[in-house]
Amino acid sequence: MTTPTTGGSPTGEAPDPSLDERMRALEAAADAARAAPSVHDSRPWTIVLHRDRLELLADPSRRLAALDPAGRELVESLGAALFNVRVSLAAGGWAVAVDRFPDSARPDLAAVVRPVHGAPEPGIAQLASVVHQRRSNRRGFLAEEVPDELLDHLAAAAAAEGATLVPVLTPEHRRLVVQLSREADMAQSGDPACRADLRRWRTQPAPAGGPSAPEDPFPPERARADSESGADRSFVLLATRADDPPAWLRAGEALQRLLLQLTRLGWAAGPMTQALEVSRTRDQLRAGITGEQHPQMLLRIGFAAPAEEAPRRRRDDAVRDRVPRPVPDGRGGTTWV
Ligand SMILES: Cc1cc2nc3c(=O)[nH]c(=O)nc-3n(C[C@H](O)[C@H](O)[C@H](O)COP(=O)(O)O)c2cc1C
Repeated sequence: MTTPTTGGSPTGEAPDPSLDERMRALEAAADAARAAPSVHDSRPWTIVLHRDRLELLADPSRRLAALDPAGRELVESLGAALFNVRVSLAAGGWAVAVDRFPDSARPDLAAVVRPVHGAPEPGIAQLASVVHQRRSNRRGFLAEEVPDELLDHLAAAAAAEGATLVPVLTPEHRRLVVQLSREADMAQSGDPACRADLRRWRTQPAPAGGPSAPEDPFPPERARADSESGADRSFVLLATRADDPPAWLRAGEALQRLLLQLTRLGWAAGPMTQALEVSRTRDQLRAGITGEQHPQMLLRIGFAAPAEEAPRRRRDDAVRDRVPRPVPDGRGGTTWV
């Protein structure tokens, strides 16, 4: 894009320093978005930076056709990235106006975020310090009962994002979660299309001693319910009243709010979503545990050794810069490109 103006800004006005600050804040927010968790590390986003706003779009080429045919988890991943954007801008002292799915003619446009004047969103700026430290844990957890105060804290975080935290507390419910996760695992491992989806995004090294060849029956890096009964495991479900793209986006924002809070408090968490990807087991989770609400995420929580950082998409791959910038025009002036 070329704006054929020489000297000054594209409009001929003196450069406005607050616009530069806004652009820097938006660039930092784009980097925060890239650090979000995503379904099977597919990183299914495109971030478009304009002078006054950031657009978060789905990258449909990265949808997992067999595991996530409706794109529910893709949109959740975008929600997690959106929450990171909000955190980054709040930490930079900016208030934001967020439009979710603002244009029905552009269903891939998940959100538009504009830094505006006013007070930053309360209660989230302090999470910026852990945006780049958060990791999903898919190796061992030290079995831990999560204290009630932590569950209350997480429930408040989920509610602030319009979602509901449903802790899986009774031995029967924990057994049900483990059993349904196993059933879903088996259904997916018997389906070549699901296996292909998982292999496509396989980026993690296999756990020591685990299988690693590409023709393995199932990629090894997926978190699994690894105890016999599951009764000693701490799981929480995130659920929403609706089950459509706006609800999935909010569920992703809630997920990331939880994950950053947990990271900040020294806890580890790992999404474990097999049982939510197979319709039959998802229906059973709903009937057995979340009731009226639709389960959107199953997380295991505990203590764990630090996990390795997942690779991120390169900035120039994930971010499109639509900000006009001044460059020398070769004749001693400036042109904006
Ligand atoms: C919607 C969603 C579903 C996920 N499902 C699983 C899962 O079933 N098993 C798993 O091990 N990790 C799962 N993850 C975690 C991703 O694999 C992880 O975010 C990705 O590999 C990047 O690693 P990081 O979270 O450490 O940055 C999921 C993440 C999201 C956002």
